[in-house]
Amino acid sequence: MIIVQLADLHLAIPQANLTEEQCFASITEAVESIASAGEEVLVAICGDLVSKGQIDQGHFVEAFLDTLRERLQRDCRFGVVPGNHDIDTTRSTSGQFEHVDHVTQCLGEYTRYSGAEGVFVYSFGGVDIVTMNTAYHGDHTYGKAPLDSLEGALQGRPASPRVLIMHHHVLRSTTNRNDCSALENGYELLMKAEPFQISLVLHGHQHAASAVRATRHAIPVIGSGSLFTLGELPNVNSQFNVLQFRDGEVAQAVTYRLIGDADARADRQAFVPRELHIW
Ligand SMILES: [Fe+2]
Repeated sequence: MIIVQLADLHLAIPQANLTEEQCFASITEAVESIASAGEEVLVAICGDLVSKGQIDQGHFVEAFLDTLRERLQRDCRFGVVPGNHDIDTTRSTSGQFEHVDHVTQCLGEYTRYSGAEGVFVYSFGGVDIVTMNTAYHGDHTYGKAPLDSLEGALQGRPASPRVLIMHHHVLRSTTNRNDCSALENGYELLMKAEPFQISLVLHGHQHAASAVRATRHAIPVIGSGSLFTLGELPNVNSQFNVLQFRDGEVAQAVTYRLIGDADARADRQAFVPRELHIW
């Protein structure tokens, strides 16, 4: 299975340096460079689909992902989770993630994050795809994993590799002392990861690529940077990850970053690949 990992789309924000067309072409090219014939594609959308959570912003995302699916031309499923920017603070709890729910329904997926703790599982290509809403508590300042719901969702399922998709990073940043936005129960999640037979954790939120191994069996925990650059954050590359996931292991992980100079030279292929070393 190939996994396209996208995060922090913030799609309602106008983009100055990157078109949607460039994204479709680069993602499709990246997939085709490592996928074998007939290999299926999971598109993991690791939260922050929009900027302020309102439902009218969801239409950008829906159109973007629908076109991406068309362009990939492969057996393709989506794993979509909300992020802190997807909390609609103008709504009651029952409607707080309605734009995300609308997007997943349009994509033919069956998650419904509004009014629930929000952990869903489906099987695809022999892998359990687990999507978990770490913003379900409605506070945009920090993440929290609904561990009881995670346990309930996985209970009784036959053994198979499990990919966990969520928004917030697991542990607070070591480079930003002001970072208090990681999962408040990240340690507990890591302690449960092996009993829950999770083989890979994917997240966003940090607007930077990261890859570490955790737990006794060295489960990869991989973050992707933002697909689109936010105006208020200078020197942040637009980026996405493409992973090859085989037999419950990440066989290959590549980050594609938008490099301005490369764009000027090549006039087309602006995303430059770099192997993501998983420490
Ligand atoms: Fe975020």
